[in-house]
Amino acid sequence: MLKKITAVLFALMLTLSCLPIAVAEAQPAETGSHILVVYFSATGTTKGVAEKLAEGLSADLYEIVPEAPYTDADLNYNDRKSRTSIETDDPSCRPAIAGELPELKSYDTILIGYPIWWGDVPRIISNFVEQVNLTDKTLAVFFTSGGSGLGSSMKHLEQQAGAGAWLEGKRFSARTTVEELKNWAASLGIQP
Ligand SMILES: Cc1cc2nc3c(=O)[nH]c(=O)nc-3n(C[C@H](O)[C@H](O)[C@H](O)COP(=O)(O)O)c2cc1C
Repeated sequence: MLKKITAVLFALMLTLSCLPIAVAEAQPAETGSHILVVYFSATGTTKGVAEKLAEGLSADLYEIVPEAPYTDADLNYNDRKSRTSIETDDPSCRPAIAGELPELKSYDTILIGYPIWWGDVPRIISNFVEQVNLTDKTLAVFFTSGGSGLGSSMKHLEQQAGAGAWLEGKRFSARTTVEELKNWAASLGIQP
């Protein structure tokens, strides 16, 4: 009986963690830049790339922080019942974002970084692009992975955002340099 109650409570917890929570908008740390680098990173690889990209472009930085942080067990892709497996199996899942969303008015260019999860974009990034207004923004994605390419991740984000001009995305590794990131942005016509 106790096992049954625990299982029901666990399932309820996972369902609730998928529900987006409306949050107020706030201003990210301002450098006066027209570029905002937005990222989500569960284990730090994408975070490192995002920080170097922001440094190279003198851009502002906004981290998408999950309201419920991902534990090692959550990130276990060998477990079909782990949180990330359950989120992947549910295309409508939108994990809640902690704190306030950035005010985007002063940015014309937004670069979005994420790790590839199951060949796709983590659902929390989908939550972000659905909650903010990307009309008239120039957008590009950068991502890290164990080897996979872009897959359908950007196409999905573009559909979910329903706005903005999306440029080609690129994979980077932890060893990527500031210079390489600056060159990638320049190749897309994005300058500090
Ligand atoms: C749940 C999960 C699913 C993943 N799926 C893939 C995948 O499909 N292809 C791949 O190359 N790497 C995959 N990875 C590896 C991550 O993309 C890679 O380790 C990434 O650099 C982690 O970035 P982060 O440290 O910013 O979270 C997966 C990792 C996790 C936790």
